[in-house]
Amino acid sequence: MDLSLLLLFGLSCILLSNGIKVEDCDHLTDNTSFQSFQVLVPAEQPYRTAYHFQPPQNWLNDPNGPMYYEGIYHLFYQYNPHGALFGDSMLWAHSASYDLVNWFSLDHALIPSEPFDINSCWSGSVTILPGNKPVILYTGIDANNNQVQNLATPKNLSDPLLIEWIKYSGNPLMTPPDGVEGDNFRDPTTAWQGPDKTWRVVVGSWSNNQGMAILYQSDDFVHWTKYQDPLYSSIKTGMWECPDFFPVSINSTNGVDASVKNPSVRHVMKASFNSHDYYIVGTYVTELEKFLPDTDFTGTSLDLRYDYGKFYASKTFFDSKKNRRIMWGWVNESDSTEDDIEKGWSGLQKQTDPQWLLDNPLQSVPRQIWLDKTGKQLVQWPVEEINSLRDNQVSIYGKQLESGSIFEVSGITASRADIEIMFELPELEEAEFMNSSWVDPQLICDREDASVTGTFGPFGLLALATKDLTEQTAIFFRVFTGQKGYRVLMCSDQKRSSLRNELDKTTYGAFVEIDPSQEMISLRSLIDHSIIESFGGNGKTCITTRVYPKLAVNNEAHLYAFNNGTLSVTISRLNAWSMNKARINCRGGLENTASC
Ligand code: FRU
Repeated sequence: MDLSLLLLFGLSCILLSNGIKVEDCDHLTDNTSFQSFQVLVPAEQPYRTAYHFQPPQNWLNDPNGPMYYEGIYHLFYQYNPHGALFGDSMLWAHSASYDLVNWFSLDHALIPSEPFDINSCWSGSVTILPGNKPVILYTGIDANNNQVQNLATPKNLSDPLLIEWIKYSGNPLMTPPDGVEGDNFRDPTTAWQGPDKTWRVVVGSWSNNQGMAILYQSDDFVHWTKYQDPLYSSIKTGMWECPDFFPVSINSTNGVDASVKNPSVRHVMKASFNSHDYYIVGTYVTELEKFLPDTDFTGTSLDLRYDYGKFYASKTFFDSKKNRRIMWGWVNESDSTEDDIEKGWSGLQKQTDPQWLLDNPLQSVPRQIWLDKTGKQLVQWPVEEINSLRDNQVSIYGKQLESGSIFEVSGITASRADIEIMFELPELEEAEFMNSSWVDPQLICDREDASVTGTFGPFGLLALATKDLTEQTAIFFRVFTGQKGYRVLMCSDQKRSSLRNELDKTTYGAFVEIDPSQEMISLRSLIDHSIIESFGGNGKTCITTRVYPKLAVNNEAHLYAFNNGTLSVTISRLNAWSMNKARINCRGGLENTASC
């Protein structure tokens, strides 16, 4: 019998012969499908992650409105309740956590229902108003398919789970201003209060061939007036999605609330466009209502990105529990819908594919984010809570990796691991010279992939690899000398990630702004079945990839360290751990693990 028919008839729990268990079948009526998930628990799920945030099933995109409230972390996200692809009735799904690691699903927070959001509840942010009162600003797709900005408030502030949200009856608060198309006006940021107590918020847009953050002001959070000029605009970008604007401490890893404005902070403007999250660092001049970046966007590979792999539509929030700023990013699947269609899978067919064979989108691990000591870029690191999942530590010290050598990091679950490694490079002066025409790091990584021998490098890790290495994802470095000193290149090479040919084989790359004559080259990789998040140079350069090996899955996956350069490098320290499973979006609260 067709699975969808089973769901339709709402049969009580059934164990199907092909190993799929349908949980909570008594909840499966059309009405409740918005409010709760139907959980499919397949016996083998090679690509389903164990500690990354995913809904039990279906499509997810942007993280929305993360916050800490009364002892609980909240994460909302764009969710399509009807299928495995983006849809036309997107809503705000809602999960909560005590520790940023284990999550449980709550009822959906915002569902399309009113003329001002009847065609979808799109991305937005939470602002915590004075008196510890969280509110949501989000984009509604209205009855005319225009993007408008709406307000929602919790029904009951004494419920720390903030389960029910009330949409403000006076919505929309903002409609597309003159000169802005109805489909180029979305994703309000967390609002901040200036020294004059006026609230400010920016909305992403595109107008007059410029991407921009349109600025609005309000005294009461309900009546908003557009300021004459955008807070920042650029002709070098696309349409700004999911802008984020926040202060970062100078000389400290501590985060601060969005409204903090004093000499000890600088500001960051992030915009999502052309499939990447780009940012600039600068000064926010309140008197001028302007953000003045140290360097503008250039529209080239020189622009700074949060992550040089697959990572988009991120959002940060200030965690008042631990005084830090935390970021979530959306990590899509690697197959584009277009590819799927080209391969002959129509969207509909794909939606009926068994869920566990789908390479579902997910959220990155939450990352703490702060301004680097140089003041020129941001640094990211998985929140410390992730370390609670570590198990079976393996350590190696002072191991020389001769030219052409490889060794297995054994004793851990290689399909689900956390690994930290420090490389020491003697005789740096022998590093090869970098041609000054090599400006695009991704192109260098593509041309000189892990199989191409260099002098210092490629050296690094082979993750999710088969024993014969026919499948492997190489995360590696190369070190060059150039006119301005040493250059460290970091690559994540997916060319051999999977024997499935139809997949995305992009080789990602970026420079790591460190001086290898002064510090060791560090790499941390979080491996979780079909995602690898890598942090080079203690979090200065991050590259996230989605990979779908055919053979290197579960217990068949191996992890190696390798050196394919002509000079040897030393692993001064390697620590690796198996990662335990987190409880992600189990039904019925944290205590109930039955459907995880
Ligand atoms: C970014 C985005 C946002 C929009 C949302 C819709 O991925 O396109 O601009 O609000 O997704 O789900």
